[in-house]
Amino acid sequence: MDKILVLDFGSQYTQLIARKIRELNVFSQIVNHDISSEQISRIRPSGLILSGSPASVDLGEPPLPDSSIFRLGIPVLGICYGMQVLAKSLGGNVAKAGKREYGRVKIHIDGKSAIFRSVKSSFICWMSHAEEVVKLPSGFKTIAHTDNCKIAAMVSSDWKSYGVQFHPEVIHTQFGKDILSNFIDICACKRDWRISSFIKNSIAQIKELVGDDKVILGLSGGVDSSVAAVLLNEAIGRNLHCVFVNNGLLRKGEPDKIRRIFTKDFNINLHYVNAQNDFIARLEGVIDPERKRKIIGAEFIRVFNAAAKDIGNIKYLAQGTLYPDVVESLSAFGGPSAKIKTHHNVGGLPKRMKLKLIEPLRFLFKDEVRKIGRALNMPDDIIYRHPFPGPGLAVRILGEVTKNRLAILRDADAIIIQEIKSSGFYRNIWQSFAVLLPVKSVGVMGDGRTYEYVLALRAVSSKDGMTADWAKLPYGILESISNRIINEVKGINRVVYDISSKPPATIEWE
Ligand code: XMP
Repeated sequence: MDKILVLDFGSQYTQLIARKIRELNVFSQIVNHDISSEQISRIRPSGLILSGSPASVDLGEPPLPDSSIFRLGIPVLGICYGMQVLAKSLGGNVAKAGKREYGRVKIHIDGKSAIFRSVKSSFICWMSHAEEVVKLPSGFKTIAHTDNCKIAAMVSSDWKSYGVQFHPEVIHTQFGKDILSNFIDICACKRDWRISSFIKNSIAQIKELVGDDKVILGLSGGVDSSVAAVLLNEAIGRNLHCVFVNNGLLRKGEPDKIRRIFTKDFNINLHYVNAQNDFIARLEGVIDPERKRKIIGAEFIRVFNAAAKDIGNIKYLAQGTLYPDVVESLSAFGGPSAKIKTHHNVGGLPKRMKLKLIEPLRFLFKDEVRKIGRALNMPDDIIYRHPFPGPGLAVRILGEVTKNRLAILRDADAIIIQEIKSSGFYRNIWQSFAVLLPVKSVGVMGDGRTYEYVLALRAVSSKDGMTADWAKLPYGILESISNRIINEVKGINRVVYDISSKPPATIEWE
């Protein structure tokens, strides 16, 4: 398969570049900025894209590429900092811009060039730079300018290397997609990246790799582990052993639904472990959120290990790791960030299990995983399911987790999901759920006084869960959720709506 490599210099848009190229049906892969020219030759890409960066080519220790990559004869497109690195590496100069450009800027094309084919002579582009190329490398010429930036795009005399100071990957750049598409043509790349061919190839690869060995997979019912399970099942059938742990902290009806879908509809070899009592016993009296998370994580590993031992002779551990997680770990500036919460999910199994890893989705973005799910006839209920934390309802019950409080939360949560789904909002928001507070308040029902729990409704919109805004749900929906919960769920007499964004709040309350 033809592919384009995106060299990551630490731009917030690197993943966006890779996605836009894939939307044009060409496989793209993100690699670290200092990849050697030997490594590139081994991968044999049709083109290289150099990403932007928060760094400056002349300040401190900027991320720089192996300069011999420019002698490989592979077409290059440098974007923003990528253009500056290209110019600097080939003998040009970069300096502080007379006037920094940020946001929408009108750009004018100078002369003809393949990268601007079918693009208007002036258009709006998205700029974000304080430095610019002030002297072209020899053999290059200017192909675009703005009022403040004389060299806003450049091309080499062999028509193979291009630099653009603006960001074609950003939606605000008019003709941005056409420009990337033109680069694909310059690379003479076949546009053969399709979900259907990905499925076919990965099934063949998994079959060949695994042979007759056994693979274990922790199935949570979330999109990623579910799609990985169905894909592996297509490849190796009964040699795939999915372990689904009912930790007693799942939502209403969830364990039965997951069992039904995976065993009945997909005929998957599912090991259902009912560990509800173990988890709830270990959580007795625990109030601290981090302790809850650690207890649940450790208990999951214990239960999963025991299931693996029962199955016996397992060689591989399959996980639904996605591309953003892989990219995060190789990011140019991927330093350790402050730990806010100890995350736990089925992917977090320890290395000491000594199993070889299979991660069939490690090159895919979430929307591509959803497309695979659809192509494999998985139900929308799984494909579009809102994210659910590994520690489950335990981090949505503030204070002690008890069977009674779990039952109250489950009933309230089910009403929220029903109402959000029937209003048509489910797919527009990132998450919506109930949080049970350790607070009671006074109410009146009929003619009597009540003294019952307060429930918080949390609904957020977000792209990736890293930042989030509280969802501006219509009052009518809030009203019906509140009415139904107070009338139908015994133990709650007051519902409040959480109107905090992330940051400074987090999405989950614990
Ligand atoms: P926070 O609460 O950190 O959540 O703003 C961000 C997103 O991550 C989900 N979340 C988790 N997912 N294991 C997971 O797999 C966890 O331990 C975990 N904790 C939070 C949360 O639901 C939100 O989508």
